[in-house]
Amino acid sequence: MRLGVLRETYPNERRVALIPALAPMYAKLGFEVLVQSGAGEGARHTDDAYRQAGATVLPTREEVLAQADVVLTVRTAGANPNIEADLPHIRAGQIWVGFMEPLYRPQGVQQLAERGATAFAMELIPRITRAQSMDALSSMATVAGYKAVLLAAHLSPRMFPLLMSAAGTVSPARVFVIGAGVAGLQAMATAKRLGAAVSGYDVRPATRDQVESVGAKFVEIPLQVEQAEASGGYARALEEETLRRQQDLLGEHLVQHEVVITTAAVPGKRAPLLIPRRVVEAMPAGSIIIDLAAEWGGNCELTQPGETVQHAGVTIVGAVNLPATAPVDASMLYSRNLYNLLAHLHKVGMLPTPAPDHEDEIARETLVAHGGRITHPRVMQRVE
Ligand code: NAI
Repeated sequence: MRLGVLRETYPNERRVALIPALAPMYAKLGFEVLVQSGAGEGARHTDDAYRQAGATVLPTREEVLAQADVVLTVRTAGANPNIEADLPHIRAGQIWVGFMEPLYRPQGVQQLAERGATAFAMELIPRITRAQSMDALSSMATVAGYKAVLLAAHLSPRMFPLLMSAAGTVSPARVFVIGAGVAGLQAMATAKRLGAAVSGYDVRPATRDQVESVGAKFVEIPLQVEQAEASGGYARALEEETLRRQQDLLGEHLVQHEVVITTAAVPGKRAPLLIPRRVVEAMPAGSIIIDLAAEWGGNCELTQPGETVQHAGVTIVGAVNLPATAPVDASMLYSRNLYNLLAHLHKVGMLPTPAPDHEDEIARETLVAHGGRITHPRVMQRVE
């Protein structure tokens, strides 16, 4: 089988789906590796590095798409508005793997299905122990959480650590991280390492221990939510009234912090709106909000995805695609996640012949399109 690696087309995307070091491992699985010229450029991998690793570099995207049986991408389908340009070149039966936003923007998967492609969505890797090495949402969330803190530190008019000098004492910055998933916990740990006084909050009570284990203080918000956690450890969406109560209670804490990093998400749904305009207006001037949920509607009412806006002296960053700003490490982690998935699919017989309703959970859960139709029930529901 021929494996094709594309140069990413999403704006400012600098990651690549295959680093040269992994090309020989695909060769061992029996793949011939084809790489679009320049695919690794953003992540500092030259065409020559791919050639030395045994890959064939092709000058154009069309050539890769014409020959590849399996196409590896970082962002495609619903995760890349520029997928339109690729659609005419997709061949029936061609296998696409990458981030696809299958639940939030399922129309992209629908488009792949209509072209007869088979698609595996990286967002749907199940959160089970044996799939951890394939869990790209987690590895990319780690990068995003880390970068969010550096961005906040850079934009903040204050320093993060406690400093005592002959000229006076600098008190530590107060950082509040909302959402204690993978990105949130990494943000707390990073802010702590920079010396800030860090607080964390999540609607799932089970996160308290995790928040405390990275050295942050857990903020208690009494919401009386019966079932905050859904299957797979993800959060459930809150009722309208509970959400409003949460906004009010959270607001009391937000105004006491000068740096806020929000990461609250519910898979496939609009991100919960946790910071309304009135709370932003009550925050101290000079405060920074980094909204990591910007791509899914934002946790702050004033967030503009991909933009940095000022309101009442508060800077609100609608952070989009932060993993692409650390492309070297993010590409290494993502390439490994992809390789581990493909090696697994190969082992269970899904490559080269994918089959819906496969008994293997990882194969079944990640397959979203095959044979001209969407095959995943949850994605199907979103399209209807
Ligand atoms: P995510 O990106 O879907 O959401 C981030 C956080 O926002 C979550 O912790 C969620 O509880 C929180 N949240 C949602 N609505 C909220 C609200 N209204 N107010 C405050 N917080 C809110 O989450 P992520 O990082 O993808 O992790 C989800 C779960 O998956 C966690 O339980 C995590 O431990 C688990 N997980 C399991 C893995 C495994 O392999 N077993 C690997 C990675 C994560």
